[in-house]
Parts: sequence; C-alpha cells; structure tokens
Amino acid sequence: MARLKVAVLISGRGSNLQALLDACADPAFPAELVLVISNIATAYGLERARRAGVATRVIDHKTFANRALFDQAMDEAIQDSGAQLVCLAGFMRLLTPEFVAVWKDRLINIHPSLLPSFKGLHTHARALAAGVKLHGCTVHYVTPDLDDGPIIAQGAVPVLADDDEDRLAARVLAVEHRLYPLALRLIAEGRLSLLDGVVRVGGGSGEAALLNPAD
Ligand code: GRF
Repeated sequence: MARLKVAVLISGRGSNLQALLDACADPAFPAELVLVISNIATAYGLERARRAGVATRVIDHKTFANRALFDQAMDEAIQDSGAQLVCLAGFMRLLTPEFVAVWKDRLINIHPSLLPSFKGLHTHARALAAGVKLHGCTVHYVTPDLDDGPIIAQGAVPVLADDDEDRLAARVLAVEHRLYPLALRLIAEGRLSLLDGVVRVGGGSGEAALLNPAD
C-alpha cells in the first residue's frame, strides 16, 4: 500500500522530527517524510533530515514582507513535494487562517501539555505552578486558534514531588517521541474520523490514542 507522504515544519532541535524519521525508516510504517521545512537556517533538525536523506528547505520568515507571503511560500513548497499531510514539530511561527484552511484536517501539531490545559508557552512551569498531578502531551489537528484543534492522541506523565521544569520537560519529551509516531500511524492507516470537533479512533480500541503511565 502507498505510504502517506508527509511534510514536517520545524524551527529548532527537531527531536520530534527525529522520532518521525526513525518511525518512517521502517518500510512497514505507513507514512514517509518527503520534505522538512525550517524557518531558521541553523535549526539542528535540518541536519537530522539531511542525514536521513529527506529533502530540506529553509524558508526564512524574515525575508517576507508579511505572514501571508511567508505562508504562501511554505504552501507552494509543500504542494510541490507531494505531501498529503503536514506535521508541525516545534515550529515557532503562527500560521495564517488561510494556510490553516488550505490544510484543514491535514495539518497536525504536538503540544507539551494535556490540552485543553496549558495552551501556549512554558507549559511545564505552568503545570508545576498549578500543582497538577498529571501532565503530558497532545497531538491535535490545527485550527486557526492556537493549540485548540481536535485532540488526536495524548500521553500522560505523572508529576513527581521533586520535579523541576527541566526534569518534567524531559519526561514529557520522551513520551512525545512515542506519541507523535503513534498519531501519525493512526492517520496514515485511515483510522481516524472527525465529527463535531471530536476525533474517534476506529479499527481497534479507543485506548489506541492514549499513552498512560502504566504503559
Ligand atoms: C516540543 O516540546 C513540542 O511539543 C513543542 O515544541 C517542542 C519541540 O521540540 N511543540 P523538538 O524541536 O521536537 O525537539
């Protein structure tokens, strides 16, 4: 069966990109990466993509007069690559509603909290300050509102008594690296349906979209 063609957008170290590259290195995995775009020329993730033999593009937002033109350039590059799905992996630019509309239901993101809690930045510090006992990460469809789209999969991470921001972030990141390939697999296998903003997983138990501490 043809593998789902995927483009990944990054801005930085690209450890989630690496998790996707590693998953796709298995010929039996139902998706393949066809393009990695970074808005930052020095992003380490670009090196990871090159090493894996995946095409890369640097599209520097600073060279565009406005956000719409930047997004158009990214859209053209993605369309040219033949990608059918776009994964945001530490991509630190807000996308225009026009770009989000073009890629509606074909654009996903990973966020380091259990959404809808802790949208935005500094999620681990905010989780510690709030005293939550369970934290984690979420893969979701992207909508025009930040970190607000339908939830595809979540990974839960218990908050420990002696946690600081770095320790908690490291444990969440390790779960992110398992969760993103899992979510991509569910999409590529055609197992998700989206109704009234709620994602349902078919062809298995609903728990397929949950990584919990007991796993
Ligand atoms: C991750 O924590 C991800 O959840 C967030 O940005 C970070 C990217 O890290 N969206 P990396 O570049 O994948 O290592």
